[in-house]
Amino acid sequence: MMELDVEKALAEFDVGLGRMHPDEDIIRTGKVASDTYLSKNRFDQEMEVFRRVWLNVGLESDVPKPGSWIVRDVEAGKASILIARGQDGIIRAFHNVCSHRALKLVWGEQGCDSQFVCPYHAWSYASDGRLRGVPDRAASFPDLDFATSGLTPIAIEVWKGLIFINLDPEPAQTLRDFLGGVMDLLEDTPLDRFRYTARLSGVVQSNWKAGFDAASEGYHVRALHADSAKDMVCSQKNPHVHFVSLDVYGPHRRTSNTRNPDFVVPESKPIQKLIFEAVPQVTVADAAERGAFDVAGLNPTQDEDWSNEQISIFPNCILSLAMHGFWTMHYWPISPDSFRWEAHYHFAKAPQTWTERFGMEASVAFNRDISSEDIACTEKQHTAMESGAKPFIQFGIYEMICRHQAAVLESIVNGSHATPMVLAAE
Ligand code: FES
Ligand SMILES: [Fe+2]
Repeated sequence: MMELDVEKALAEFDVGLGRMHPDEDIIRTGKVASDTYLSKNRFDQEMEVFRRVWLNVGLESDVPKPGSWIVRDVEAGKASILIARGQDGIIRAFHNVCSHRALKLVWGEQGCDSQFVCPYHAWSYASDGRLRGVPDRAASFPDLDFATSGLTPIAIEVWKGLIFINLDPEPAQTLRDFLGGVMDLLEDTPLDRFRYTARLSGVVQSNWKAGFDAASEGYHVRALHADSAKDMVCSQKNPHVHFVSLDVYGPHRRTSNTRNPDFVVPESKPIQKLIFEAVPQVTVADAAERGAFDVAGLNPTQDEDWSNEQISIFPNCILSLAMHGFWTMHYWPISPDSFRWEAHYHFAKAPQTWTERFGMEASVAFNRDISSEDIACTEKQHTAMESGAKPFIQFGIYEMICRHQAAVLESIVNGSHATPMVLAAE
């Protein structure tokens, strides 16, 4: 097993609020105040961060043709976002708010239309956001300036098929500045070629960070997933599911993770066997099948039991790249004690046969079951935290991603600027 270089996790970062170091105490001790998961004040401070940084809200393939649109509600930013591909093919993002009396303009989630018509008084907008029609305009709004009455734009950038937005009217960074080394790392990956997506989502009654933590470490697999994922993941060589390599890119991170090479689906489980054979994308495929994400920079130690690379994009997105596909998890804060969990499983193509269809849907259901174990756990964790019995929680060395996430947030919220900070030698 690797020796973890803790110093790596102390590297400075910049999310557009100045250069900072992750909170050193959290990185070194793993101790995080429980109050950061409970307090309304802390939650509000974190939501300020959400309003300033780039957030992945969708996929280019969600808006495939002119007129296609999606709506994403980002409760953390008190915003509903309308993303639409114009007749000119350009994807734009807008506040989903009518210019007349600020009604939520589009109430659906996804569609394809030549214009948006407000349900209240029927003002209409083109898919590029321009105001197009106002009923009774001559009598009711003789002086209305159409040119300045379109939808309010939101900063948007599309990278490798992923749509990012920034709710700051004047973002301090470009997406490139924000993602930094993550962009370089994933430059040669075919993220944008996986255009068939299955989506799961649900509201979880716990703080968003507890959900994020559960997806950021393998330490719990052996216990919590004893009846589901354990045999596939926990190996003799790596029984406690340590990541086998770690890199930090500013506020983001990458880990390589392994599978259990001795795992075989027992003959007594023909359905699970069928799933594995039909859809290796979202399951643990055979190591011999080197696939789409076998590119330079990933699995840097070339571990023979490699199963996936996890890219943890600050603040709330986890991208997992496996041999034949990838999946994402998002943790969207709603309140201090609730968040919306979203998972997207990306496949290279739509299912062509009944076997593939069954395999894909069953594999998504299988992943949902595993995630349900995490979710049920974080809900119980939240109510237990509220008891006040434990003033702090503690993350181990191999829960370093959780430490780093907490340390980055702590520095942003409570200030730890890079320049005056001198890192103490251990
Ligand atoms: S609020 Fe939209 S048309 Fe009146
Ligand atoms: Fe889990």
